[in-house]
Amino acid sequence: MRFRTAGAMHPLQRVFRAQRLSAPLTSMCWVLLRTFRAHNSTSCPDPEGKSSEGVQKDFSSRLATGPSFQHFLRSASVPQEKPSSPEVEDPPPYLSGDELLGRQRKVYLETYGCQMNVNDTEIAWSILQKSGYLRTSNLQEADVILLVTCSIREKAEQTIWNRLHQLKVLKAKRPRSRVPLRIGILGCMAERLKGEILNREKMVDLLAGPDAYRDLPRLLAVVESGQQAANVLLSLDETYADIMPVQTSPSATSAFVSIMRGCDNMCSYCIVPFTRGRERSRPVASILDEVRKLSEQVSRIDPEMRIRFTSPHPKDFPDEVLQLIRERHNICKQIHLPAQSGSSRVLEAMRRGYSREAYVALVHHIREAIPGVGLSSDFITGFCGETEDDHLQTVSLLREVQYNTGFLFAYSMRQKTRAYHRLKDDVPEEVKLRRLEELITVFREEASKVNATSVGCTQLVLVEGFSKRSNTDLCGRNDANLKVIFPDAEVEDITDPGLKVRAQPGDYVLVKITSASSQTLKGHILCRTTMKDSSMNCLT
Ligand code: 5AD
Repeated sequence: MRFRTAGAMHPLQRVFRAQRLSAPLTSMCWVLLRTFRAHNSTSCPDPEGKSSEGVQKDFSSRLATGPSFQHFLRSASVPQEKPSSPEVEDPPPYLSGDELLGRQRKVYLETYGCQMNVNDTEIAWSILQKSGYLRTSNLQEADVILLVTCSIREKAEQTIWNRLHQLKVLKAKRPRSRVPLRIGILGCMAERLKGEILNREKMVDLLAGPDAYRDLPRLLAVVESGQQAANVLLSLDETYADIMPVQTSPSATSAFVSIMRGCDNMCSYCIVPFTRGRERSRPVASILDEVRKLSEQVSRIDPEMRIRFTSPHPKDFPDEVLQLIRERHNICKQIHLPAQSGSSRVLEAMRRGYSREAYVALVHHIREAIPGVGLSSDFITGFCGETEDDHLQTVSLLREVQYNTGFLFAYSMRQKTRAYHRLKDDVPEEVKLRRLEELITVFREEASKVNATSVGCTQLVLVEGFSKRSNTDLCGRNDANLKVIFPDAEVEDITDPGLKVRAQPGDYVLVKITSASSQTLKGHILCRTTMKDSSMNCLT
């Protein structure tokens, strides 16, 4: 994949979500990166699944000679192209500048679906804020309600339709004394269904696809004049590179930074290439600029950010990225490696581009390269033609790999996809669901075993806030992004011995783990620390 910065190639791409820290005193962020690898790089997964030894040798020599993080930073100074956005129309002559301004109208944004949507919400808000809109978190106060939507499965869309029915009531009840309530659908569902939404739900005023957020002020101005407005054009180059997403929640301890948009993988089950368009990288300089700004907003206590990479495809973890994960104490030793199925036959039907053997070889390779790495995955049950034997192979992959987090779904046929045109959705719904339940059970058993190995260890935890269940317990995330719950107690600050503190959201603390389940760890807090300090004192 080519970076569009002066033709430079770089393995680091995709989404980079940086989570900013809470209030003024917060410590740090962790940053979530999606990565991609250059077309000309040669690492796992081996499509034939046969040369894991060769791959390991290759990896070792690359470790010695590969690019350093400094190299990555240096390449960021390559001049960046000015982003073009040909899809955004100039304001028509009948809309003056004033009408494009938000006039302090209050916008309520609601986000559904993936991490890209979380980031897109912040981009959309950044654009509207500049246009004179205000943001509200109170639905009753809103003049404009915008839903950032997801189309990945039928169920995701059903949730939005249900929400629209509720909003219809709100719109109907709106007192005449107030400006009319406007409702907009943003993101993948707008892109997939286009005008169908406006026909089906007359109360929807506005549609904006994932590449049309720059056009929101104009679309809202058109809506203001009493008409419906839509822009669902996809772009080849829109990355919103110059738009600094606004991190909204003052208590957030993390943020996503997109480093890439769209997808060219064309997995046969997946709607994403059709709703988010072609794959394109954000210029490196703009990614770094955003990260720098986020790091300025964070802690005076600890200037470092914890980073986590995420990506929808195993091919996005080239050796250079593995090397970084291994070397850097502030990059989570956790990789999301979506397998989708444990059967090579199904993987081929899904057009994933790897076999079960190649995937397992990659898992071994990663585990050797990064000892103690945590792995998570996505799986689909009941894909077209999946037999009981295919399903059992997925069960056995779950047992073999022992993921510590899993996202499991029943297959949902999506129009436009290759599977829709070429394959038969022939696994009955009840079978899909039964297989899903079986996978969930096996996943939990294995995750419980993996998590139990943390009992007795001391872990570095980023505090997020009070636990949902009790306000005498705090909740945070460890290096593998697992939830850790521990009683809120006064502890010493390691950087200022003698100072007794209560941990705040955004602080790093050391927690001794005392028990584990398939999804959570529990323990007791030892002290407040910094990322650097904890990296120097080897944790056990
Ligand atoms: N049906 C069910 N699950 C799907 N996913 C993507 N498309 C579908 C679909 N049509 C799952 C995949 C992907 C995750 C984000 O959603 O597991 O990795």
